[in-house]
Amino acid sequence: MYVCLCNGFTDRQVRTLAATAQGSVACVYRALGVRPQCGKCVPIVKGIVREHSGGAASAGLAESGSST
Ligand code: FES
Repeated sequence: MYVCLCNGFTDRQVRTLAATAQGSVACVYRALGVRPQCGKCVPIVKGIVREHSGGAASAGLAESGSST
């Protein structure tokens, strides 16, 4: 299923990358070579990353540590 219509990537792609993204939503976009445009997909990507990071993103750790 497409999660981002602006950039045309799927939940499967996000899940694959989320396993190595270390809880960072920004890492997923970077790995895909895209940037959020309208931003509607960001909560979905964040949710998938959260599933793969054991809840670190829900604690805000992923966002605050995204630049590291
Ligand atoms: Fe992903 Fe618009 S749907 S940036």
